[in-house]
Amino acid sequence: MKVSIIGGGGRVGSDAAYALQLGGIVREIALVDMNKDLADGEALDLRHGAALCGNQVFTSNSEYDVVDGSDCVVITAGLRRKPDESRLELVNRNVSLFKGILDSLKGCKLNAGATILVVSNPVDILTMLAAQSGIVPESQVLGLGTVLDTCRFRSLLADHFKVGARDVSALILGEHGDSMVPILSSATIGGVSLASINGYSDEAVTGVFDFTRKSGAEVIRLKGGAGRAVGVSIKEVVENIALNTEAVLPVSSVQHGTLGISNIALSLPTKVGRRGAHEVLTPAVSEAEREGLLKSAKSLSDVFSSLT
Ligand code: 2OP
Repeated sequence: MKVSIIGGGGRVGSDAAYALQLGGIVREIALVDMNKDLADGEALDLRHGAALCGNQVFTSNSEYDVVDGSDCVVITAGLRRKPDESRLELVNRNVSLFKGILDSLKGCKLNAGATILVVSNPVDILTMLAAQSGIVPESQVLGLGTVLDTCRFRSLLADHFKVGARDVSALILGEHGDSMVPILSSATIGGVSLASINGYSDEAVTGVFDFTRKSGAEVIRLKGGAGRAVGVSIKEVVENIALNTEAVLPVSSVQHGTLGISNIALSLPTKVGRRGAHEVLTPAVSEAEREGLLKSAKSLSDVFSSLT
């Protein structure tokens, strides 16, 4: 499978490319960046590691010719928010840049069945724009959504409970942003309900969630921007697309009635495979969690309708 990363010279795009190299599943990675030297430099650096990683092809350019023949296009390009700025506040700055990327993609020859994975923020809003662009069918457009937040939450809960992070099953759904919702009612560690684990208290878990929700801004404050965890989150989605696994991931996609949410993109548990969002599943949520998801949908819908 060929993956093109629009913004591949940037921190998020290049970390995603590196994660995909280490994963070894995709065959070809094309990096597109308006800064050609950055794209070429990242591709060269990746190519240098091929002898110890695997037989993959790396291409790069500032133009979109290298995107032709892609099976998946990952869009990471965009301005980064300031630590005290919400992702939704980015909308005015990133929408016009994103529309330019979509226009360029319309001129590319993508392979039949190609998918688009939006990462740029505000990711749910931009996922809507990509879904409405007609470049690929709507269900073949995904947003990274709360895959990253869920990864952070699981990892930070593991730190708190001193368990293996892979054994923590704790979803964050809704907006990849301030209105994201932790689904604690079904959270488990190794199949054991969170509430019955030593070290559990409402305050402690709420504290872990609060830190998770602020983690994007904290990473920007400390090191200028996220890269590593968002890179492995992108790899997780792309490799499940490549392998057509039907893995259930909290990706963002345009909703059509699940939990009463429609016509806005946000994250719900979704079967992911070669054609993108194969099926959105209805999560088991408490009434409060459902209310939180409806609030998240309304917040996103209000912003999206202000664009049109
Ligand atoms: C984050 O939360 C980049 O939105 C991404 O770090």
